[in-house]
Amino acid sequence: MIDQHKENILKDGFTIIELGNASFIESMQNDLLLFTNNFLGSSLKVKKLENLHHELPIESLNEFRLKVIKLINQNQDFRKNLTDTILPHFQHLLGPDLAIQKNINLVISLPGDVTSQIPMHSDMWTGHSPFELNLWVPFTKTYKTQSMFIMPLDKWILRKEEFKNSKNTLQELTKLWEKDFVFVEVDPGQALIFWHNLPHGNCTNQETISRLAVNVRIKNLYTPYGDKGLGDYFIPLTYGPMTELIFKAKTQWD
Ligand SMILES: [Fe+2]
Repeated sequence: MIDQHKENILKDGFTIIELGNASFIESMQNDLLLFTNNFLGSSLKVKKLENLHHELPIESLNEFRLKVIKLINQNQDFRKNLTDTILPHFQHLLGPDLAIQKNINLVISLPGDVTSQIPMHSDMWTGHSPFELNLWVPFTKTYKTQSMFIMPLDKWILRKEEFKNSKNTLQELTKLWEKDFVFVEVDPGQALIFWHNLPHGNCTNQETISRLAVNVRIKNLYTPYGDKGLGDYFIPLTYGPMTELIFKAKTQWD
């Protein structure tokens, strides 16, 4: 099964994994619901996260999002359970020595909210190393325009030259390439692993439910870092035997 995901990554640049008996996802969903209702100042207004848009005023969205990010990042159990679960996949794809993004990020997409659009982009445009993979974990069901879109690797290889030479704006290219995008369908208890060098983004959510999904980047500890360095943006996650040996013996190296 793990080999199938490697094949998917090599073919498409993304794959959807199962988080197994992911009670830590349910537990986080419950924490988020509790927090949401406290934030709104009344109990049990929101019974499902996907209905967040019924109660949360759009002008409170950013304040809400920042507070939820804090809550998620303070929860060490969630972080540990998540990293323990996904580790076999990432070690298979990236090797035994891994670094992980220090802060988990959260994206919220409410139906009809034009302010939450993330235009088509590659994370390399904002200084990320191409050696990173992105782990995307939703707390709601995700589908169609409520989800995010990715251009699969084979399509991107064909489009790359066109992109380099094109005089079109990004908006125009997004429109032209529309049929090449895949809107990923990922349920709670599953996670998407994708190569953020591929064009991706999201449009206005035209569906009837909200999306809440966290993302965190993982890379091999020894690969180039771009503008996002080890220590400030990434922290070590796991060490292979060779790295452990070096640290154990306190061996100095250049
Ligand atoms: Fe991105």
